[in-house]
Parts: sequence; C-alpha cells; structure tokens
Amino acid sequence: MNALTAKILVSDERPSVRARALLEEMTLAEKIGQMSQVEATHGYAPDYLGERLRAGQVGSIINNVDVEIVNEAQRIAVEESRLGIPLLVGRDVIHGFKTIMPIPLGLAATWNPDLVREGARVAALEASRCGVNWTFAPMIDIARDPRWGRIAESFGECVLLTSALGAAMVEGFQGDDLGEPGSIAACAKHFAGYGAVESGRDYATTNIPDTKLRNVYFRPFHAAVEAGVSTLMTSFSDLNGVPATGNSYILEDVLRGEWGFDGFVVSDWDSIRQLQIHGLTENDKDSAFEAANAGVDMEMAGDAYSTHLLSLVEEGRVELETIDRAVLSILTLKFGLGLFEKPYTEPQLLPEFGSKRALSAAREAALQSVVLLKNDDAVLPLKKSALKSLAVIGPLADARYEQLGTWIFDGDEELSITPWQAIQDMVGDDVELRHVRAMANSRGRVNPEFDVAAEAAAECDATLLFLGEESILSGEAHSRADIGLPGDQVELVHRVRAAGKPVIAVILAGRPLTLSDVVDSVDAILYAWHPGTMGGPAIADLVFGMEAPSGKLPATFPRLVGQIPIYYSQKNGGKPPSKDNVVHIDDIDTFAPQTSLGMSAFHLDTCFTPLFPFGHGLSYTEFAYDNVRVSAEEIRLGDTLTVSVDLSNRGDIEAEEVAQLYTRDVVGSITRPVKELKGFRRVRLAPGETRTVSFDLHTDDLSFYGRDGERRIEPGLFHAWIAGSCDAESRTEFRIVD
Ligand code: BGC
Repeated sequence: MNALTAKILVSDERPSVRARALLEEMTLAEKIGQMSQVEATHGYAPDYLGERLRAGQVGSIINNVDVEIVNEAQRIAVEESRLGIPLLVGRDVIHGFKTIMPIPLGLAATWNPDLVREGARVAALEASRCGVNWTFAPMIDIARDPRWGRIAESFGECVLLTSALGAAMVEGFQGDDLGEPGSIAACAKHFAGYGAVESGRDYATTNIPDTKLRNVYFRPFHAAVEAGVSTLMTSFSDLNGVPATGNSYILEDVLRGEWGFDGFVVSDWDSIRQLQIHGLTENDKDSAFEAANAGVDMEMAGDAYSTHLLSLVEEGRVELETIDRAVLSILTLKFGLGLFEKPYTEPQLLPEFGSKRALSAAREAALQSVVLLKNDDAVLPLKKSALKSLAVIGPLADARYEQLGTWIFDGDEELSITPWQAIQDMVGDDVELRHVRAMANSRGRVNPEFDVAAEAAAECDATLLFLGEESILSGEAHSRADIGLPGDQVELVHRVRAAGKPVIAVILAGRPLTLSDVVDSVDAILYAWHPGTMGGPAIADLVFGMEAPSGKLPATFPRLVGQIPIYYSQKNGGKPPSKDNVVHIDDIDTFAPQTSLGMSAFHLDTCFTPLFPFGHGLSYTEFAYDNVRVSAEEIRLGDTLTVSVDLSNRGDIEAEEVAQLYTRDVVGSITRPVKELKGFRRVRLAPGETRTVSFDLHTDDLSFYGRDGERRIEPGLFHAWIAGSCDAESRTEFRIVD
C-alpha cells in the first residue's frame, strides 16, 4: 500500500468525503483513468493491461473471473500505481453466477420480490468468490415485444412488476451494506427505452413520446434509484433521434436533475464510439465530447475517453467539473464497497458454489416461475399410481445447458438437473419411462426419430413433450421475426397427438412464443421459460403434483406476430374492439360485400384478444374472487383507501395464488391505460379456506406524468379490480375528490 492510500485509509469518514480527499491528489490523466473500463478477457497479460494499471489508466476491468488474475490486477493497481486505487471488477451476473436461477422473465413469472432478492443475493455471494464487485443487472427495460431477444433478460411488460422486482434485485446484490463481503454493486440498465426497439430488432431505433417515457419506460429506473442502485448503464439505442449514450435529457435533466441520482453512469459496450456509427458525431473525439457532456461517467470497453478526454478538457470542450463529478462518484462507490480496505477476494470466506442455499433458491424460483397455461380435464397432475408408462419426448427434456437460458457466462451446467433426470428419480421403478429426443436441437426438422416418438406416444399412457427454444434463440442480438415453435416442432406435436393419448407440453423458452398452431393439440401446457439449474426437479414436482403451479404471465402471449405490440395496459382508443363490433375474414360475405367491417381497432384475420393474457396462470385447485370492495367511495388527495376481496380455495389441495390489483383512471388530461397493475400478493390457501386480501392504495399510487412532464394526480372516477389475471371482471369503483 502506498503512503497516500494509507493516509486516506486512516480517516474515518464517509465514502464521499474520502473520495473528495483522494480526488484532490489526482492528476487529470489519473482522473480520466478512473473513467475507463478495460476488457480483461485475456487477463492482465498481455502486458498492455498491466502497464495501464501501473500508470493509473484503468478504473475498472470487465470479463475476467479468474481469482488469481483478478487479485493480481488488483495488486498491481493497489501496490504499483501512484495512488493505489483499487479496481471495480465488472461482470454480467444476470440470473445467477454458477448456480443459475430462471431467466429474469421466468423470475418475473414468480411475482415474488423476496425470491428475486434471494436469487440476487446468492448470485452476489458466488460472484464475489471470483472478485467480482460490480454487476450489470438488473435489466429493467419494459419489454412489450416478444420478438426482441432480450425480453428474456427483462421482467416483462408491466411497469409495477418490473419496478418491484428490479428494486428487489438491487437489494439482493447490494445487501444491507455494500461493504459487507458478498455484496456487489448493481447497475440498472439500459437507460432508457431499449425495450421499445422497432420490430423487436435488437439495437434498432426507438421513438417514445415523452409522456410514455415518463409513465412507462422511466419508472422502473426511478424505482431502482430509490432502492439505492449504485450505477446505471446507457442503452445502445437511438432515443427520439439522440442515442441514449449521448442523451443529456435523460442522463442530466431527468436522472440527476429530477431524481437526484448521485451514483455513476457507465456506457454500454463501446457505445460511446458507436455515436459516430449512429450518425451523431464525425469521429471518436466528438463522441467522447457528446457522451461526457451528456453525463456518461465511465466508458465500457472502448477507448474514446482514454484517447480524447484529456485534450477535450484542455481545449475547454469538457469542463474539469464534469470530470471531477464523474470521478467522485466512481471513487465513492469504491470506498463504499470497502475496496480500499479489502481489495482482494478471499473465496474461503464465502459459501461454496452451488451451496445448499443457492440450490434451494434456484429450485424455489423455478417452481414458482412455471405457468400452467391450460389443463383440460385436469390431466395434470399425473398420478403415479394411475400410470403404467410415460413417454418423455423432445429436444429439451434432457439438455443441461439449454435449460439455463441466455446470459450465463459463468453458469455451471454440471450443476443442472434436467427434467428427464428428475422424472426418473421421481418415479423410480413404478412407471415405465421412454425417452425420445426426436430432434438434435429445438430447430430440428422432421426425421426418422419422429416415428419413434409417435410410436412411444402410442404405446405409453401419456406423453410429456418438452418443446421450446434452445438458449441461443433468445438474448442479446437474438431477436426473431417468427416466434412460433422453431424447426418442425409443430409437426412433432401433431404426430404425438395422433397417438390419441394425453399430451402434456412443457415449454422451455426465452420469450412468449406464439402457440396457436399447437394449443388445441395438447391437453395441458406448463410454460417453464428457461428455468435454470434446478429446472428439472421443479418441473417434476409440478407434473406429479408434489406442488401446484403458481406462476403468472409477466408478458402477454399473442396469437400471431401481427398482433404485436399487444399488452394489457393499452389505451382504449376511440373505437375499442368488442365481441359485437369485429368481423372475421372468413365471415365476410363475398356476394354481398359489406362496406363496414366492424369499424373498431382489430385485425380481420385474428381475434382481438391475446392467446393468454398478462397475469394468467392456472393452478391445480380453483380460486374464486368474491366481493371486491373499497373502504371508501371517495377519498381526498393524499389519503389512502383499501381495496379488498375474499379469496377462496375451492379445491381440495393447498396451493398459492397471486392476487392482482388493477385500476383504471377513467378520465385524464392525457388518456390513461385501460388497466394498470397497482399491487400483487402471493397467498397460500388450504383447501376450502377463504381469506380477505387487501391492498392499500395511496392517491400517490394513482399519479401519472402529464403533458407538461409533471407528475399529477387528477380527481375523478377510478375503477378497481382484484383478480387472478388482467382479465378481471368484477370491479368496484371510487372517486378522488379535491
Ligand atoms: C450488453 C450489456 C452488458 C455488456 C457487458 C453489452 O453488449 O448490452 O447489457 O452488460 O455487454 O457484457
């Protein structure tokens, strides 16, 4: 440790005060060094990284999780650079590190912030073993287009659900105290609007009116800031003509000006230099100028800052104050993480990879993430005693890697337990099992194995068909235009159906798929997303009724791609469709052509409703919602009212239900969505039990941003529903009065 670091160490002060003291000792070049993150995939050798570390030119490294290399890089930074400033060690820990949770979209289907928090905590503990102290999660981009591959990394379409789960993930990573061993800094990404890319093509343009930015896309980020997130990442995308990485409106005016964020903003991977490719700048120097002045504090993986910031400051194009503010917040985080005291990771002080705690969080999350989409004639759960034989068919029944899903740099597939393994363990010798993979991967075509599969289906009492997408079909840069089951899976379903026995589809996928081609050809569908390490045991528990499904859709399932965007919180419009004002293309009378075909907002060739709505998810029991009521018919601004319902378990098994509160602001100075989720709760009920479920609703919860960009609550009539999906029927109402 050098003398200066020692001096700053002895002072017993807050991180920001210590950071300021250190800042005063720094040269401009050293400050710019802190604003640069360097890719360390190949370690500190080749020596250019070692030299840069010694010269104080690196604030953070990314993408090396070899403990020895990371500790050596820290050693060089701490012992051999002039100021001895430790490094932020960044890594994408998106849904687990070695032990993998369901993909974030699956985590969202749990509607369980406690589980999301615990999943992030165990991921942080595992990642810390390797010296990671900063991760690039949660991804809280609202995603309303299932073609977009990164919907897998999101919490889906809903503002409230994304905000709640994003905040929980931040809390899980950062813990109660960032300085504790096992806490890592979180990064809310990608600010802002990334999920709205045109036609779901990753990196494409976004055009989002300000009221929508504020009422939809910004809100989860505001919630993350309120939850204390340390950092934010910019989006790759162009936002209303100004790429997010050069967009001072979002980074300065809103994030810092309005929300008071005092952490720091990192670019996305080389997204500063990409400002030139966008056509915003002519060269890297201008890109550095735009990004720095827009409020990007650290450059991820590029060299625009390290090459050009110094001269930009000398030329007066970037103020020294801008640099100081950036460096201050970077150093504050480093002090907050306790890196000056403990720069090195000590794996032996942290739990093993794949610990009991991690595996149990992964199993519970997988269990709660699975959504029972349909279950004709209560074909599920299967009863071992009533079954002599079972066919287990499909490319994803026994695929340790594929079940982990996208963005799992460090995931250990050796820890995975597949459905096929778990089903064998579950049934032992009681049921004769036949396993036919049928396709090498999810994109496979018709082949002779289809005959073997059809034969197995015919010879067994029932078939479990494991379908969906392998992991590479979703995630970054993996968008699809056709989101049906890939390859010839539809044909496989039809061949198996033809055997005439019960068919249960278990679908593993990174997005909502369009299932119209198969939905009527199977008796039940369990939608398991990519369920992670413990997906197998969770699925086996559900199939055989050890547990009842309780997942709920965090995103709407369209019937056809052409319906996209389709989401529950849409606006009513002036001509909303209903059963009475739509016409189907097959019903147009050719011989007496009608001039008017319904005159409402619908497609002629499909139904105006989705295949499965947001919030949908069945159980093995039946839940009933009765007597939705409010505690007061009128409330004043600033008051709270309670909305309640009697929730009953009418079946004969214990099960969990996610009760969902929706409201509609009937008249607004800007039009308001037909429904907005305002609360949700998991409730476990014994057979025959009825319980009152209540939600407090403060008038602030009903606020929105108006035409002037200001937050407001407008007096007037509100509708409220509590139900098991957004397809809620019985409603109550109340008024806000002045
Ligand atoms: C992604 C980010 C990610 C970064 C580092 C980029 O391509 O957009 O979300 O954090 O890479 O891996």
